[in-house]
Amino acid sequence: MHYLVTGGCGFIGGHFIRMVLRHEPALTVTNLDLLTYAGNPENLSVVAAESGGRYQFVHGDIADEEITGRLFAGTKFDAVINFAAESMVDRSIARPRPFVHSNVTGASVLVAAARAAGVRFVQVSTDEVYGSLGDSGSFTEQSPLDPSNPYAASKAAADLLVLANHRTFAQDVIVLRCSNNYGTNQHPEKLIPRMILCALRDEPLPLYGDGLNVRDWIHVTDHCAAILAAISRGRSGEVYNIGADNERPNIETVRAILHHLGKPDSLISYVTDRPGHDRRYAINSSKSRRELGWKPKRQWEEALAETINWYARQQPSG
Ligand SMILES: NC(=O)c1ccc[n+]([C@@H]2O[C@H](COP(=O)([O-])OP(=O)(O)OC[C@H]3O[C@@H](n4cnc5c(N)ncnc54)[C@H](O)[C@@H]3O)[C@@H](O)[C@H]2O)c1
Repeated sequence: MHYLVTGGCGFIGGHFIRMVLRHEPALTVTNLDLLTYAGNPENLSVVAAESGGRYQFVHGDIADEEITGRLFAGTKFDAVINFAAESMVDRSIARPRPFVHSNVTGASVLVAAARAAGVRFVQVSTDEVYGSLGDSGSFTEQSPLDPSNPYAASKAAADLLVLANHRTFAQDVIVLRCSNNYGTNQHPEKLIPRMILCALRDEPLPLYGDGLNVRDWIHVTDHCAAILAAISRGRSGEVYNIGADNERPNIETVRAILHHLGKPDSLISYVTDRPGHDRRYAINSSKSRRELGWKPKRQWEEALAETINWYARQQPSG
């Protein structure tokens, strides 16, 4: 079996490739990545060296028809898993164009190439396409798409393009909408690594608004396990929500990081809220648990501690 993974030098794609190469000895992976500021090939250097030739890296843009055409002409893939995206909400508010390029044009080029090759296409999407919730309830796969920012809008557009290909061409596609991921190797611009790094340096931890925005956290390896289950057991044309029933107000997450590191709450610095900031996410993942035979394994307190300790070890000593 041979998977084409895109965006594998990023946070989640990198975990996915490491999981596949370490635990699925019959699988080969080709990783197509543009190496934007968010891509770090070093994340894969050890596993690539240990893979016995089962890992191949291709530097390129998923929106480039020549590159994708060449890749599919040269290899018979068994699945395409599209992680490649611009993924930072604040950057999308400042400059949406790269998000339209990678997330919308890129997904449309890649899904078309997968169709021509007759390969299953898995779109790694996000719960952010559903927008924001009030104090109760959770997102199901039937919740309306109601994105609040250009990042979420570009991911919603990609979902619709991918699902339309299923209806128009009976193409074999699956869309996975996961909640917020945490774990090692995440870019330091994202909430959890950013807060850990500020705390380690005794710098103020910038927290948006009143800190009461709620995020539903899942460990990145639980997300990757769900993707593997979807590749083999997902029904074509379906959307699956992925989550771990782990809602936390941001202030609670930030305090947990400070307490673990033995730092004072006085390091928290409230900053002007993000425009259009989603108040609450909560994801109902009963469909994916039922149909994919998957469930999250990592427990928040223990896996967050492991994540904090990993970032602490990356810091230069002294
Ligand atoms: N991080 C989360 O909490 C989360 C939650 C749900 C869904 N997602 C989705 O999962 C996917 C991966 O997220 P992440 O946090 O690992 O992102 P990331 O920003 O860490 O990594 C993105 C990767 O994609 C690559 N890339 C960007 N544009 C590209 C292009 N045009 N062609 C080829 N490669 C390109 C980058 O170089 C990078 O390696 C994204 O599609 C994101 O929308 C993320």
